[in-house]
Amino acid sequence: MPQVTYITPAGETRVVENAEGTLMSAAVANQVEGIDGDCGGVCSCATCHVHVDPAWQEKVGPATAAEEGMLELEDEATEASRLGCQVTLTPELDGLVVRVVGR
Ligand code: FES
Repeated sequence: MPQVTYITPAGETRVVENAEGTLMSAAVANQVEGIDGDCGGVCSCATCHVHVDPAWQEKVGPATAAEEGMLELEDEATEASRLGCQVTLTPELDGLVVRVVGR
């Protein structure tokens, strides 16, 4: 499974090896600061908001319509925004870098 680098709201770099599940669940399992996953991954809290590194945006893909609805409520939403619970980690995402928006 992939290695994922999370850049926390404080600017610290957290590298998670063999990340499993989603960007949110892997972050919660590894106590990555700024990703709470309050709704458990059902796309209804946005506490897993990340900005995908520009080099990875095409591979990760755009937000779904359900995500867009949540992200519209977020002040820091950008073209790079995804909800971490909606990004399933696959071997193809090995090396992925995301910035945690946090609250
Ligand atoms: S964990 Fe709630 S929207 Fe992702």
